[in-house]
Amino acid sequence: MYNLTGRNIVLGVTGSIAAYKAADLASKLTQAECSVDVIMTPEAAKFIAPLTFSSVTGRPAYASMWDAASAVTEAHVALSRRADLLVIAPATATTLARFAAGSAEDLVSLTALATRAPILICPAMDPNMFEHPAVQANVETLKARGVYFVGPDEGRLASGQMGVGRLSEVETVMGAIRFVLGRGGDLAAKKIVVTAGGTREQIDPVRYVGNYSSGKMGFAVAAAARDRGADSVLITAPTELADPYAVDVIRVKSAMEMRDAVAEQCARADALVMTAAVADYQPAEAIGEKIKREGRDSLTISLVRTPDILKDLSADEGLIKVGFAAESNDLLENARKKLKSKGVDLIVANDITAEGSGFGADTNQVTLLDKSGAEEELPLIGKYEVASRILDRVVSLIETRQR
Ligand code: PMT
Repeated sequence: MYNLTGRNIVLGVTGSIAAYKAADLASKLTQAECSVDVIMTPEAAKFIAPLTFSSVTGRPAYASMWDAASAVTEAHVALSRRADLLVIAPATATTLARFAAGSAEDLVSLTALATRAPILICPAMDPNMFEHPAVQANVETLKARGVYFVGPDEGRLASGQMGVGRLSEVETVMGAIRFVLGRGGDLAAKKIVVTAGGTREQIDPVRYVGNYSSGKMGFAVAAAARDRGADSVLITAPTELADPYAVDVIRVKSAMEMRDAVAEQCARADALVMTAAVADYQPAEAIGEKIKREGRDSLTISLVRTPDILKDLSADEGLIKVGFAAESNDLLENARKKLKSKGVDLIVANDITAEGSGFGADTNQVTLLDKSGAEEELPLIGKYEVASRILDRVVSLIETRQR
């Protein structure tokens, strides 16, 4: 989890029915090895008990300023000083009004005033309330002070009404937390372009040549780059994965479309990481109508080479290029060849036949090969961790490059 491990997160919960979702958020943050201190307004404690939070975080949860004062040494501002980030989820209209006015009427608004850590607010309320000019003015005031917001999302609310007011999904809030914690990281002000997924080369309107790439590896690299402060751009072939928070996602289908998007995005980028499984062949001609089976015992489709996106990329010489080598045999030998033939700075050798590795898996086992001839074999680890190890290399390559 890297940028979450060991971080002190203060989670402020205020009086909304969505407060129950904050328990899941507290649990996910704790699982990601954050130290999570939950503070609540008295209204929040009517929706969900402090005990629920202390059970999932393993730490006391505070619903009153005076509870906190008795439990921590530096009275009620101790939590705010220890925080790396204050997250308010859910945040009600009253909470926004208190923050905007600088009032410290409860433990959550008090902590927001006392802390110098970044603040992330996740509003949840009735859509009419959220739209109201008074609430919008408070949001703008807080944004102008550098407070981060995520949501609210559009959808069904507890009242049965549809509209913009739902607390963002926990996964989205987790992405936003990682994004905020990553500001000023070692890829700050760097543009990292990542490709993901398997391209689809159209045979006819209903069929294509494709492969088993799920996009997980590329999405992990794009998220990990975001978590280190990068301007992260993800060019992805079709996948079922949702857009990662604060990543600029460009969806393409074919190798040709991916080539064009890569060329455009790399014109002003610092690094390109090509995890995409680009089809090596495409039908010689796209057939405009569905091929019929009647009257055919067999079918031959003629394929031609797709462009080699990595090899043919004529970008700024300072662009750091990372390729993957997906191999089912002679892994290192083939990867060494690709390191040279594709003209990349680093190649990630991926044995796609190994257990828990390659297509579709949440883990991967790879070896990193660089131009100096050094080879580093990584253990079987999660794809986000693999991504982080690749980005460690990208950071040092960027530092030593000659523009
Ligand atoms: O998406 P997942 O399910 O998470 O799976 C991850 C993965 C197995 C797809 C990924 O880890 C991986 O190995 N990606 C590389 C797949 C591939 O196409 O490898 P290759 O050895 O055929 O190509 C070598 C490199 O050239 C790759 O960086 C590829 O993106 C690039 N390439 C390939 C063909 C082409 N026409 N243009 C290219 O730029």
